[in-house]
Amino acid sequence: HPRRTPLIAGNWKMNLDHLQAIAFVQKLAWNLKDAKHDVAAVEVAVFPPFTDLRSVQTLVSADKLPIAFGGQDLSAQDSGAFTGEISGAFLAQLECKYVLIGHSERRTLHAETDEVVAAKVAAALKHNLVPIICVGESAADLELHGPSAVPVAQLRAALSGVTNAADFVVAYEPVWAIGSGKAATPEQAEQVAAQLRLVLKETLGQDVADKTRILYGGSVKGSNIAGFMREPNVDGALVGGASLDIDEFSSIVRFQQ
Ligand code: G3P
Repeated sequence: HPRRTPLIAGNWKMNLDHLQAIAFVQKLAWNLKDAKHDVAAVEVAVFPPFTDLRSVQTLVSADKLPIAFGGQDLSAQDSGAFTGEISGAFLAQLECKYVLIGHSERRTLHAETDEVVAAKVAAALKHNLVPIICVGESAADLELHGPSAVPVAQLRAALSGVTNAADFVVAYEPVWAIGSGKAATPEQAEQVAAQLRLVLKETLGQDVADKTRILYGGSVKGSNIAGFMREPNVDGALVGGASLDIDEFSSIVRFQQ
């Protein structure tokens, strides 16, 4: 299959204000330059809080930094009386490339259903954002249904309005591995990623299955990234806690060395 460019993405969640974001992005850019980072070989992206995005955009565009960025969520609506919501149009205007959709914290703490996730995926695509569709099973799901049943069902639902021309990313994040310090093994991640790729093939065809990146997320750090990246169906990582530490995140980006 055509080579998929690895993507290392940092989900800051509700951490780092816009001043801290500026300092972080500057240091990250410096580290990438220092390491002679090849953007064509590994893509790097950060997902700051909404209030940081304008600052990040200004910095990245002024210095043409090799760092992509995106929102942690978006509204399924375009505009209107939706207090507190952020539309895909706003994100696109700030030159966001990506948007996270259906993160487990959105699903559990904000009751986002598969239908909401599908509507948000459609909204992202409408505004030319690349959705990063997050799926993953809880510890209880794992015990009841095994490793891939829930992520597979979540992905099928999220893809209900997607055509085979769409550009999107899938992030497999087992809920039990998020923030727990207890990452899945590379073998576990590969097993589910392979099932997710089968879903892509069944629903959207071989080309989409071949080109779409599948990330692993859940307690990824500098010391375990290489194992995940060796798996054929894992094309990168969605990093939470370790993406807040500039040295740790930089070492994840440099997983090949
Ligand atoms: O979206 C990434 C995240 O949920 C994983 O978090 O802290 O386990 O890397 P963490």
